[in-house]
Amino acid sequence: MTPRSAARVEVTVDGRPVLVRPGTSVAAALLEQGRWDFRVDPVSGRDRGPYCGMGVCLECEVTVDARPHVRACLERVREGMRIDTAASGEDT
Ligand code: FES
Repeated sequence: MTPRSAARVEVTVDGRPVLVRPGTSVAAALLEQGRWDFRVDPVSGRDRGPYCGMGVCLECEVTVDARPHVRACLERVREGMRIDTAASGEDT
């Protein structure tokens, strides 16, 4: 493992601090944590997660630093970022 690949930044996911790779997408960071339940479909009530990975389907919406409806597949992680999914009670 090189020092570059070992670098991590701390973000908060649903109130829990986690270390993720800098510059990766929020979606990739959540998936790396084993999370697929980014939001809840308002009609079916089912958990939803990333599908297209390119900003089209809107299935990956989360709340980032109190900004709702952020497409996790397009947003890059930053040190100190707060990410809230539907599991946190945030309405995304
Ligand atoms: S995965 Fe489709 S918009 Fe993000």
